Amino acid sequence: MNILLLGSGGREHAIAYKISQSPRCSRLFIAPGNAGTSECGTNVALDIMDFQSVADFVKSNDVRMVVVGPEAPLVAGIADFFASDESLAKVPVIGPSRQGAMLEGSKDYAKDFMSRHAIPTARYKSFDKSTIVDGISFLRELKAPYVLKADGLAAGKGVVILPTIEEAEKELVEMLDGAKFGQASARVVIEQYLEGIELSVFVLTDGKHYKILPSAKDYKRIGDGDTGLNTGGMGSVSPVPFADREFMAKVETRIVQPTIKGLVEESINYKGFIFIGLMNCSGDPYVIEYNVRMGDPETQSVFPRIKSDVVELFEAVGDGTLNRMTLDVNPRTAASVVLVAGGYPEKYRKGDSIVGIESVSDAMVFHAGTARSDDHIVTNGGRVLAVTAIDDTLPVALLKAYQEASKIEFDGKYNRKDIGQDLLNL
Ligand code: AMP
Ligand code: GLY
Repeated sequence: MNILLLGSGGREHAIAYKISQSPRCSRLFIAPGNAGTSECGTNVALDIMDFQSVADFVKSNDVRMVVVGPEAPLVAGIADFFASDESLAKVPVIGPSRQGAMLEGSKDYAKDFMSRHAIPTARYKSFDKSTIVDGISFLRELKAPYVLKADGLAAGKGVVILPTIEEAEKELVEMLDGAKFGQASARVVIEQYLEGIELSVFVLTDGKHYKILPSAKDYKRIGDGDTGLNTGGMGSVSPVPFADREFMAKVETRIVQPTIKGLVEESINYKGFIFIGLMNCSGDPYVIEYNVRMGDPETQSVFPRIKSDVVELFEAVGDGTLNRMTLDVNPRTAASVVLVAGGYPEKYRKGDSIVGIESVSDAMVFHAGTARSDDHIVTNGGRVLAVTAIDDTLPVALLKAYQEASKIEFDGKYNRKDIGQDLLNL
C-alpha cells in the first residue's frame, strides 16, 4: 500500500524509517520531509496545512494511509476533512479528530477532561480577561513556584513558571490583558506546581483499544544541567529506568485506561498517538499535559525499539482491531543526542555543509533541519540531526551515541553533554 507521512522533523525521519521497513508499504511519500526522509521514500513539496492539496495528492497517487507527525494539521482538523469526503473516508488518518486534538490544542479543555475522568493532575483553575481579579486571588492561594499556561498553542512557549507571587501576578496580567501570546493566552490555566521527575509515555489507540509504547525522557533546555532557554528537545532516552513495572502499572490504571474510557464515553473519535507528559511525584504519576502526536526527539529513541511492523499496527488502528495485535519491543536501551546549529534556539545559521554522517557506524542518524544542496547535505534548521545508539545498558548506549555523534561536523555544531546523566545515579 502507498502511505503518506506528514511532517519534516527528526520524529518524521524515525517514523519514516520504521514504515519503510514494512513489507506492507509499497511507496512511502513524506511531505515535505527532509534530506533524511528522502532515503526512506519520496519527499513531496506539499503544504500540510492545505488539506485540499494533501487530499488531491492522496487521490492521484493511490495513497491508502496518511500518518500525521505534527499537531498543527490535527488541531486544524485534517482527520475530519478526510472523514467528510466520501472518496477519502476509507483512507485511515493516523491522528485524532479535531475534537480529540483539543487535548493538546487547549490546556483548559485537557484539564477539564482530566477532571471529568478523575485523572490525576495538578490542581488548577482557568481565567480570562474578565476574571483577572479571581485569577490573582487563586494565585495567592497557591504556594511558589507558580505555573501559568496559555490555553492555546503557543509554539511550545506558553508555559511560564515563576518563583514569586509578584512576578506571577504581573505575568497573568501580561498574558490576559496584554495578550502576550496573542489569542493563545486569551485564557490562562493556573496550576499547582508539581515536584518530581518528568517522563513521556506514548500510547497508540484505535479509539477503544490501546498499546502502551516504550517510555522516554527528553531534555528540553539548551544547556547542560537543564539550564538556559527551552528548545524543541536536545536528546532522549528510552526506556526510563524509574518507569518500572510498578510505576507503569499505576500509569496504565490511573491514567491510560481512564483516558481511553473518557474518549469513548464522550464519543471523541481518536485514532492515533497520545503522548502523556507525566510527573513522577514520589512514585505516583500525574499528568502535566497531553499531546496528540509522538514527541520529538523521543520518537528517535522510542521507534527504533519497536520490533513490530508499525504499518500493521497503524492498519489495526484504522480498523479498530488494535486488541488483536501484539507489540514487540526491544528491551535494550536507546539514547539519542541532538546536534543543533550554533545560536539555536535563538538566531542561527542555515546552509552550512554537514560532513561525517557516512562515518557513523554504530548508531542511527535521524535528520531534522537538513536539506540536500547539489551532492551534499547542509543545515536547514535549528535542530539538525539526532544520533541514536542502542545497547544493553544506558551508560553504554550514551557512550556510543556520543562517540558516533562526534564523527559529524558542521560549523557551529552544538550538543548537550549530559543527556541521560540524571538517570544514572537515581
Ligand atoms: P508543557 O508545555 O505543558 O509541557 O509545560 C512545559 C514544561 O513546564 C513541562 O515540561 C514541565 O517541565 C513544566 N511544567 C508544566 N506544568 C507543571 C507543573 N504543574 N508543575 C511543574 N512543572 C510543570
Ligand atoms: N519533546 C517534547 C515534544 O515533542 O513536545
